[in-house]
Amino acid sequence: MAQEANTGKRYTRLAMSLHWLMALMIMVAFAMGVYMVDLPFDDTRAWFFRHHKNIGLTVGLLLLLRVWWRIRHPAPPLPPETPDWERRAAAVSHRVLYIMMAVMPISGFFTTSFTGYPTYFWWIPIDLGKWGGENELANDIFAFIHVGSAYFLAFLVLMHAAAALRHLIIKRDTVFQRMLPGRAEEKKE
Ligand code: HEM
Ligand code: HEM
Repeated sequence: MAQEANTGKRYTRLAMSLHWLMALMIMVAFAMGVYMVDLPFDDTRAWFFRHHKNIGLTVGLLLLLRVWWRIRHPAPPLPPETPDWERRAAAVSHRVLYIMMAVMPISGFFTTSFTGYPTYFWWIPIDLGKWGGENELANDIFAFIHVGSAYFLAFLVLMHAAAALRHLIIKRDTVFQRMLPGRAEEKKE
C-alpha cells in the first residue's frame, strides 16, 4: 500500500474525494433535517425523513473507509513556518470533526430506532430500526443529542471553512491546495 501517498504536498485523490463528497452530504443532511422537522405528517415528510436517514447512514459508512484510510496515511506536512498554535488547532479541530461525523449517524440512528418508525437503508428491504422498540424517553434523549450535535457540527464546519479560506485568501499559502486536485506537485497514489 502506498504509505507515502498522503505525505506528498497534498492529500491523495481518495482522501480529497471523501472529504468533498462527505462535506456535501453532511450539508445536505443538515439542510434536510432542519426543513423536515417542521413539515406536516404526510408523504413529503416521510420522503425527507427516509432520505435524510439514507444520506446520514451513508456518511457513517464512508467515515469507516475514511478513518481506515487516514490511519494508514498521515496528513501532508504543513508549511514549515506554520506556528505551533495553528498546528495544534488544526489537529484538535480535525479530530473533533471526525468525532462529530461519527456522533451524527449514531445518534440519528438511535433517535429513530426508539420512535417505532422503520429505518430502511436505500433499497435494502430490512428494517434496521425495529429492534429499538418505542420508547419516548430514549427517543427524546437521543433526539436532544442528535440535534445539539448537528448545530455544534455546523458551528465547527463554519470555523473550519473560515480557517481554510484564510489560508486561501489572506495567507495565500499552500494549505488549501492540499485538499484540491490537479496541481503539478501532486504525488501519484
Ligand atoms: C451527517 C449526518 C446527519 C446530520 C448532519 C443530521 C442533521 C440533522 C438535523 C439538522 C436535524 C434537525 C434538527 C432540528 O432542527 O430539530 C435532524 C433531525 C433528525 N435526524 Fe438527522 N442528521 C444526520 C444523520 C441522521 C441519521 C443517520 C438518522 C437516522 C438513521 C437521522 C435521523 C434524524 C431524525 C429521526 C431527526 C428528527 C429528530 C426530531 O424529531 O427532533 N439523522 N438531523
Ligand atoms: C461538513 C463539512 C466538512 C467537514 C466534516 C470537514 C472535515 C475535514 C477534516 C476532518 C479534515 C482533516 C483531514 C485529515 O487530515 O484527515 C479537513 C481538511 C480540510 N478541509 Fe474540510 N471539512 C468540511 C468542509 C470543508 C469546507 C467547506 C472547506 C473549504 C471551504 C474545507 C476545506 C478543507 C481543507 C483546505 C482541508 C485541508 C487543510 C488541512 O489539512 O489543514 N472543508 N476537513
